[in-house]
Amino acid sequence: MTIRIMFGPDNQMPPVIHTPLPPKTEQIHTPVADMAGIGRVRKSNPSSIEKDRDKDKDKDKDKVAEILNELESYIGLIIVKRLIRDLQAFVEIQKRRTHERLIAEPLVLHMIFKGNPGTGKTTVARLIGRLFKEMGVLQKGHIIECERADLVGEYIGHTAQKTREQLKKALGGVLFIDEAYSLARGGEKDFGKEAIDALVKAMEDNKDNLVLILAGYSQEMDWFLQTNPGLRSRFPIHIDFPDYTIDELLAIGKLMFKTRQYELTTDAEDTLRFHLQILLSSHRYAGNARLVRNLVEKTVRKQAVRLFQKPSSSREELIQILPVDINLENL
Ligand SMILES: Nc1ncnc2c1ncn2[C@@H]1O[C@H](COP(=O)(O)OP(=O)(O)O)[C@@H](O)[C@H]1O
Ligand SMILES: [Mg+2]
Repeated sequence: MTIRIMFGPDNQMPPVIHTPLPPKTEQIHTPVADMAGIGRVRKSNPSSIEKDRDKDKDKDKDKVAEILNELESYIGLIIVKRLIRDLQAFVEIQKRRTHERLIAEPLVLHMIFKGNPGTGKTTVARLIGRLFKEMGVLQKGHIIECERADLVGEYIGHTAQKTREQLKKALGGVLFIDEAYSLARGGEKDFGKEAIDALVKAMEDNKDNLVLILAGYSQEMDWFLQTNPGLRSRFPIHIDFPDYTIDELLAIGKLMFKTRQYELTTDAEDTLRFHLQILLSSHRYAGNARLVRNLVEKTVRKQAVRLFQKPSSSREELIQILPVDINLENL
């Protein structure tokens, strides 16, 4: 498993984020006010503007901490978690430096996510959007998920229009393009290339209010970046999402049951582990949390069918998942 993070690989590149200087209304200590002693009074007895600003800052900090805690609650993803914490620290310090009118590193936050389906890419992208919003990096922090069909059109001019539409929706947040490598599949004459060109232009034009994340299978994304040498330098943050291990899949399953207020009996847990092991050796993308989510949802339905056969059920019965409930059909 590799992980690379480079901030601003190309010094020619302008920063994605320009943290705005504090608005003028916030500069309370004018020299005149200080001379008149007003500044001193304000220091010991802060104005309501200052108090509100401090409160807002505290609230933002709480929200950032909340989001980082949520990140910690995800199973595994150790390197991804560390990278996001590093990124958060880096962005925060560049903001503080800008505030002090020090030279800040150019921040380019476009990313490449590589990994198999169900390894947490969309989940993490969503969290990053929210995190950047609370940090004041993005205005909205929402995520627009799209794939080739949402970007590429059927006639000349159609692609630019479709891509622009998605970009417009994503402004202020994250544009997440799944299976992004498929944009380069058709070669030079394909409209996919037009979409890539439009994306690159938008990255430049909206550098302070849009984060672009391109996601896909590892090998395909490597190939994609190779076919577009200009692209690589525009995406300084690369994150690899490894397949989950059997223990991680089991923990993810248990967490999913728990958040739905279900509990596995010890026997049911053994059965789940046994089936996950079989899945791991037979399924193409088995290290895959989506598969576990499907399994959890099917299992919950099977438990319901079992309980429905009796006229009533105890609270405990409603919570408990038995080995017979574990449902692997059509996974
Ligand atoms: N580390 C994790 N801990 C808990 N749940 C996870 C984790 N990774 C993924 N999931 C869950 O698995 C499902 C699929 O994840 P997703 O982010 O859509 O994967 P991808 O975008 O890589 O295909 C989602 O329901 C998500 O909540
Ligand atoms: Mg996804």
